[in-house]
Parts: sequence; structure tokens; C-alpha cells
Amino acid sequence: MPSTSGAPAVRGLQGRDLLSLADLGSGDVTTILDAAARLKLAQADGTPHPLLPRRTLGMLFEKASLRTRTTFVVGMVHLGGQAVDLMAEHTQMGVRESVPDIARNLERWVDGVMARVYDQNVLEELAEHSRVPIINGLSDRFHPCQVLADLLTLRERLGSLSGRTLAYVGDGFNMCHSLMLGGALTGLHVRVGTPRGYEPDPAIVEQARDIARASGAQIDLVSSAEAAVRGADAVYTDSWVSMGLEDERAERLAAFGPFQVNADLMAGARSHAVFMHCLPAHRGEEVTDDVMDGPQSVVFDQAENRLHAQKALLVLLIGGEAALQALPR
Ligand code: CP
Ligand code: NVA
Repeated sequence: MPSTSGAPAVRGLQGRDLLSLADLGSGDVTTILDAAARLKLAQADGTPHPLLPRRTLGMLFEKASLRTRTTFVVGMVHLGGQAVDLMAEHTQMGVRESVPDIARNLERWVDGVMARVYDQNVLEELAEHSRVPIINGLSDRFHPCQVLADLLTLRERLGSLSGRTLAYVGDGFNMCHSLMLGGALTGLHVRVGTPRGYEPDPAIVEQARDIARASGAQIDLVSSAEAAVRGADAVYTDSWVSMGLEDERAERLAAFGPFQVNADLMAGARSHAVFMHCLPAHRGEEVTDDVMDGPQSVVFDQAENRLHAQKALLVLLIGGEAALQALPR
């Protein structure tokens, strides 16, 4: 995909962290998506691509995961390296040992660290004290790896990102934040529909609008699901009760009812619109079975693309662009 803003990557990706998509330039996103497409093709062709031989990734999960855990482990296997589970109950970050000391240990053993944490500040602290890349595998603020996979999926389905419109319907939480930033970087308009009181963080909206000035993306907030999806090329939702917010379940179910993605709501988007979800889905809450399993749904393509997008990210952050040269064009 050509760079949407014309802005080149500020510098190569090797050695950098990915704590938020705002850490990337639009050229970086293009580089990652292009590499992901090539890696996906190599895998489909059965072309071996051990681009990170004997390299290791430490993985730390403070919260549950299916997709993130599996795709990082499988990705490292495909790349000729290995992922090491740091097991949060043993690491006890900030309890048994301080976060900076954990970072100072890990950088002596592994080539990168992927962490899923409650608090974005923990990632910032890890990154501050680590010389190896720190990758955000989901926090209370962002989910950048998911959105790289989502952008790859949208590019495959729509042919382009710039000038298209993605409607995000539901909770203005981590997914919404990263989708706004991803749209801003690639020229993809993002229209967010949330109940009042569940809007995205205004500071991140402002950051996305700032970034979007270069790409031409519009970042808009509306207060109904119908207004969000009107004319959209993609309709995206996420669970109404994110991990860590279980105590708020009853009030959230009441507030989010009118924001369910069902066939009626999908009918308000363009006829070719795709339905997207980061998963896990709570069928009958934020999405109905007929939409989730229907012809417009690309949710399992998104899940597959986690693997390809993260392999690209790992190669570029750990091995650098030179490591990609071993991959057939
Ligand atoms: N979408 C996603 O991150 O899935 P997991 O929580 O299963 O990793
Ligand atoms: N918003 C969800 C995303 C899960 C991938 C959560 O944080 O639980």
C-alpha cells in the first residue's frame, strides 16, 4: 500500500517499542503491513522463513488470552526462534520485584518482550528500563497488535484504507483508542458511536485528530450506533465488559443495549460493509449470531492476521528491515 500521508518512517523500526500505535509513523505502518502480506504469502506457499533464528521473545500475561498468546508463540516458531512464557504468577511484577529490575533482567536474556498488562504505565516503565523492544499485547489504554491485524484485514478486503470509513460501535476503551490511532495513521475515517459516559479518552481523540491532519482521516464521535454506521465500509465492535471491568457488568449491559450490532444495524452500513470484532465475542450481547456468522463477518480473518502482522512486527523490531531480505519477493 502506498504511504497514505507521504511521510516516510522517521527511522527504522529495529530496537523500537510498540506501546501505542502513536509510536509509529504512517510509513512504519505501511512497512509492517507490506511485510505481513509477504510473510502471509510465504506461509501459504510453504516457503520457510526463519528470519529470527535462535531469537527469543519473553511473554508476560497479567490477563487471559487465546489469540495473542497463540499467535506470538506460533509466530516465533515460524521465524526460527522461540517464545518464553514468563508466567505472571511467578514474575509477580511490582510485587516480588520492581518493574525496572524485571526489565533490567529480561534484556540480558531475551530479544524482545511482549506484555499484556492492566496498566499502560507498567509498559512505559518496562520500556524505560529495557534495551530490547517492549510490545504492548493489550493494556487498559491500547491494543496496537490487534489493530495492525485489523488494518491488514481491511486492506485485503477493501483494497485500500485511505478514504474508507470504519464505524466503531460500543465501548470507547482500548480497542476504540487503537482503532482511532490506526485510522489516523492510514487515512481511514473512524466514526465512533458510544453511549454517553463511555466515550473514548478525549486526550486520545485529540492525539488521533492531530495525527490525522497529515493523512486526511476524519475522527468523529457520535452518540448513536445508527449514526456511526451510516455509509460505513466496516462496522467494528468489542465486548461491553472488558477484562478487569467485570464489577460494572450490570450497568454496562443496560447502557450498551442500543449499541448491539445486529442485522438491522448492519443494514445501515454500505452493502459491501464488513463486520469486525477483535474477539472474544459475547454472542447475544454486543453482536448477534447471524452477524457474527454471516457473510459480512471477517472476524476469523482478523484472528488469522494477528499471526502475520505480529510476525512482521517481530522481524522488524528485533531483526530490522535487513532481516526481511531473506524473504523471497
Ligand atoms: N483479540 C485478542 O487479543 O484476543 P485474546 O484476548 O484472546 O488474546
Ligand atoms: N476490550 C477488550 C479486548 C479484548 C481483546 C478487553 O480489554 O478485554
